[in-house]
Amino acid sequence: MFASPALVYFEAMIRTLEWTDDGIVMIDQRLLPSEEAYLTFKTAEEVADAIRNMVVRGAPAIGVAAAMGIALGVQQIPSKDDVEQRFADICAEIQNTRPTARNLFWAVERMKKAFEKNRGKSLEEMKSALKNEAQQIYCEDIEINRRLGEQGQTLLGPQQTVLTHCNAGALATAGYGTALGVIRAAVAKGKKIHVFADETRPFLQGSRLTAWEMVQENIPCTLITDNMAGHFMKSGAIQAVIVGADRIARNGDTANKIGTYSVAVLAREHGIPFYVAAPLSTIDLETPSGEFIPIEERSRAEVTEILGKPVAPASVEVANPAFDVTPARLITAIITEAGIARPDYRETLPRLF
Ligand code: MRU
Repeated sequence: MFASPALVYFEAMIRTLEWTDDGIVMIDQRLLPSEEAYLTFKTAEEVADAIRNMVVRGAPAIGVAAAMGIALGVQQIPSKDDVEQRFADICAEIQNTRPTARNLFWAVERMKKAFEKNRGKSLEEMKSALKNEAQQIYCEDIEINRRLGEQGQTLLGPQQTVLTHCNAGALATAGYGTALGVIRAAVAKGKKIHVFADETRPFLQGSRLTAWEMVQENIPCTLITDNMAGHFMKSGAIQAVIVGADRIARNGDTANKIGTYSVAVLAREHGIPFYVAAPLSTIDLETPSGEFIPIEERSRAEVTEILGKPVAPASVEVANPAFDVTPARLITAIITEAGIARPDYRETLPRLF
């Protein structure tokens, strides 16, 4: 039913999440790279917890999980009389998990539109329509990433070292990835790409997830700690930076994993192009600039502990913003499935839609 070019790739790819008859199966990203374990979520509430607790993370993957979680919740509604209230509760529960990634809210809106469209139908028809919509979002995400990768790889030369921050790979999407999708597409074209992966404290998405993806696919990768990026830029080792995004404001200001802003400042200082790769569903034309993007604050334990072991005095004050905002003026180009936008983003971003 969902036959599409995405499924050709599907057989070979890292499986981030999947709709099955037993529930929504997700790779537990908290355990990688030491364990490749899969968990099955059987209710919308369980899916909401999986998003909140980072079993699944990365803006597009959160969006797909949200759509699947809503569809799953709808499958369990016992009678047509409950459908309106229950649907509203499920959407609210899913939406209240993480505040920054635009894709979460985009996916909830899309499921709400599908609900509106099928309002007059039987409960069984509604269930099937919402399940189909979630599956459609899943398949589209893979195809979008492949198109985005195709666009983005044109920015890379035949032999380049590219620095990335956090994980904007297959694990952060339904498959293929955004920033790592660009790298995958360049490698598929025969370009010799070497990836420098920032480890990305405090949650270590770079060392645990990006490095794991690159090793899985034999793409040359050097893992560095976050504070090494400037050193390698200064020594001429890095020719481009590509990162993903959680939310891009109308003026191009971009929220992404904490530390992205520092990388962008360093790239500007060293004359290195700084690219953001993201689907249109990450662009929020209703948010005028970065100062209006809500930034999630996560638990102190993520900073004071590493793998459950204390690395700081128990009583120390801690700040843990999960994202920062890179001002548009530091971004060389924004790569999307619909094309590559360059400044002035207030003009070029709306044109992509
Ligand atoms: O807290 P996370 O791991 O969900 O943050 C993920 C990021 O910041 C990614 O770079 C972003 O979502 C883009 S993923 C294609």
